[in-house]
Amino acid sequence: MRGLTVATGPNGPRRSKIFILFSITFACGFLSNVVSNANPLPYEAIFNFGDSISDTGNAASQHPAMPSNSPYGSTYFKHPSGRMSNGRLIIDFIAEAYGLPVLPPYLSITKGQDIKKGVNFAYAGSTALDQNVFKQKSMNVEAAAYSLSTQLDWFKKFKPTICKSKEECDSYFKNSLFLVGEIGGNDINAIIPHKNITKLRELAPLIVEAISNTTIQLIEEGAVELVVPGNFPIGCNSAVLAIVNSDKECDYDQFGCLIAYNGFIEYYNEQLKNAIETLRQKNLHVKITYFDYYGATRRLFQAPQQYGFSSGKIQTFKACCGKGEPYGFSAQIYCGSSAATVCSDPSKYINWDGPHFTEATYRLIAKGVVEGPFANPSLKSPPFKIA
Ligand SMILES: *[C@@H]1O[C@H](CO)[C@@H](O)[C@H](O)[C@H]1NC(C)=O
Ligand SMILES: *[C@@H]1O[C@H](CO)[C@@H](O)[C@H](O)[C@H]1NC(C)=O
Repeated sequence: MRGLTVATGPNGPRRSKIFILFSITFACGFLSNVVSNANPLPYEAIFNFGDSISDTGNAASQHPAMPSNSPYGSTYFKHPSGRMSNGRLIIDFIAEAYGLPVLPPYLSITKGQDIKKGVNFAYAGSTALDQNVFKQKSMNVEAAAYSLSTQLDWFKKFKPTICKSKEECDSYFKNSLFLVGEIGGNDINAIIPHKNITKLRELAPLIVEAISNTTIQLIEEGAVELVVPGNFPIGCNSAVLAIVNSDKECDYDQFGCLIAYNGFIEYYNEQLKNAIETLRQKNLHVKITYFDYYGATRRLFQAPQQYGFSSGKIQTFKACCGKGEPYGFSAQIYCGSSAATVCSDPSKYINWDGPHFTEATYRLIAKGVVEGPFANPSLKSPPFKIA
């Protein structure tokens, strides 16, 4: 636990002034940093959109089921915190690195709560695409109760409570960071049981278009610094490995990941990056950063020991919490249900519950995007290092 943090100014240690920042450690362990006005934080606020990878409690506020039960949250918060992990998520580490509080979930904001430093609109289970798109494609997707466009509607409804005039909003958002994603993982998950890569590839341009549309609308609302993350190497994901369940050795790479599913994500991420480039060219006043979640995560599966994880052709891919052979996952006995088991040391596991990662993994991904090299271009330099 850090009690006192010494940090240098944004121009690095060679500039003469060293700012000493006093931090108050709250019961939950997050740092709240008091910074002198002479050295304002790089971002005034963070606004986040996404799914369970970054939901800090929106879905849990509506459905008092998972992840509202143990062992969710057991490692860090010591109680279920509405996050689909044993501890903090990438977005928590990012907020901490920039000296901001953890983002309050939009659906459980209470009167008088401080919302000026950012709000989280991410909702576990959200798809990038609207339900009607799946209907048009005759795809029965149950997860699409909320989509990215719903989250954008929430943001538009919320906006007048934080700024009134266009001038006020513009100057506030000029110093705010907007994250659009990761989103699209649930759209992809809905197709995984079909085990049909062609079907997945058909979906890719639609997901990219939905993310692009939302990004455009946020720019219209006044956002000038945005992040669009790509998707993860799902071919290494415990849940995908268990569902695809291939007995053909040639379907796996030398590390144990499904070649075709990682190949699909590479294809999807390339399309997303192209769409981002188009947005940049059309909006020259705006900075859009791509977060390479694929690269930041795949390296962990390729050299698990180097990052403190257990290794072994199966062990590397086992979920810490759940039940099922050999990957510790089955859709019927989900983490948090009474028949599921939990590993004794989650910090040795990359995967938490099948679809989601452990806090240890999220921490490494956050370090990789905040401190480099998995962000293009980099964000403003963070005043704090991710411990
Ligand atoms: C896979 O999906 C494509 C596109 O939807 C379809 O044409 C093809 O028949 C499917 N293949 C199998 C084996 O179901
Ligand atoms: C994106 O926006 C365009 C223009 O408003 C619309 O026609 C299209 O359906 C949208 N695409 C998705 C996937 O939401």
